[in-house]
Amino acid sequence: MQTIIQKIDADQFEMKELDQAANILKAGGLVAFPTETVYGLGADALDAAAAAKIYEAKGRPSDNPLIVHIASVNDMAAIAIEIPQEAYQLAEAFWPGPLTMILKKKECVPYGTTGGLDTVAIRLPENKIARELIAHSGVFVAAPSANTSGKPSPTKAEHVKVDLDGKIDMIIDGGKAILGLESTIIDLTGKIPVILRPGFITQKMLENIIGRVEVDPYILGKKQNENLVPKAPGMKYRHYAPTGSLTIYEGDTQAVIDAVNLVAQEKILCGKVVGIIATDETKIFYKYGIVKTIGTRKEEASIAAGLYDILREFDKLKAEYIYTESFADNRLGQAIMNRLLKAAGYHIVKVTK
Ligand code: TXA
Ligand code: MG
Repeated sequence: MQTIIQKIDADQFEMKELDQAANILKAGGLVAFPTETVYGLGADALDAAAAAKIYEAKGRPSDNPLIVHIASVNDMAAIAIEIPQEAYQLAEAFWPGPLTMILKKKECVPYGTTGGLDTVAIRLPENKIARELIAHSGVFVAAPSANTSGKPSPTKAEHVKVDLDGKIDMIIDGGKAILGLESTIIDLTGKIPVILRPGFITQKMLENIIGRVEVDPYILGKKQNENLVPKAPGMKYRHYAPTGSLTIYEGDTQAVIDAVNLVAQEKILCGKVVGIIATDETKIFYKYGIVKTIGTRKEEASIAAGLYDILREFDKLKAEYIYTESFADNRLGQAIMNRLLKAAGYHIVKVTK
């Protein structure tokens, strides 16, 4: 299959530029498109055959449900039932934006979209191309991240191309995904709302609107505990991983730098390609390997935005060993560390002074 690549300027475009993409979606095809979090791989959510194509293209396990993207809050009632008041309050506060809500599904949503579950994940994205595309196509758009299953999520159209060229009908290149980490997922089907995946919308922000919110203990674990099963099926799979072996170094900054310099030098002496994930503040102190900065510690959002891109950069450079600094585990840091730990297969080294 020849994948069409279409550039669209997110700040200035006309509806007719989305005609072809909308027609592909209507006809049951696959279109990758930008959102504010990461690029999504879209298909008609109510068409089981179209949704099946997503699993095929990504190599995604069939029990891992898809998020259904809508263009207006009113659409929620078209695919969900028994919608609690909290859902409307959260929609009012955070939509359009990086929040996904789990609700009970309506019969019209096929099990092929929900991975066999009676619930459905719903999100109204902020990105203008995404929203206009959904509205223009007239279908609800099931869209996981547009990467090969297990790889880092795509934050640029070129990332999508590397993974899915020739496997999907179209890629809309709308520039960089500005946030760079997937949406926060909150499950509203139980007595107490539970965060299943951390993101930009934090527990505190959610609690400010609807009161008590819990966090699925699975995502707080620094080690994957065999006895904990995540409520979002996707969270159990190895994820976000670069090809090289990634290790996180945690502790006093100087001690981390010293330890990384030592291990990097050892690997290089053995002829290995080594990548270092530094920050603007520490970059100059690393002496060995290919040193790249992920962002500045003064602005957590810059680190979130740079994470997947830097992992993919090291794939391109064929890094066999990648060493990264660790980040604070609160607020947005919780989302960053959640992804980094999974990318590293929970391989973390604690260093002391
Ligand atoms: O920011 C995002 O959410 C991006 C963009 C494209 O919107 N999408 C995304 O989709 O990250 P994906 O498929 O990579 O992640 C979806 C996650 C998976 O962990 C999946 O298990 C969970 O959402 N999920 C989907 N439906 C669910 C449901 N009914 N119950 C529990 N978890 C669900
Ligand atoms: Mg994903």
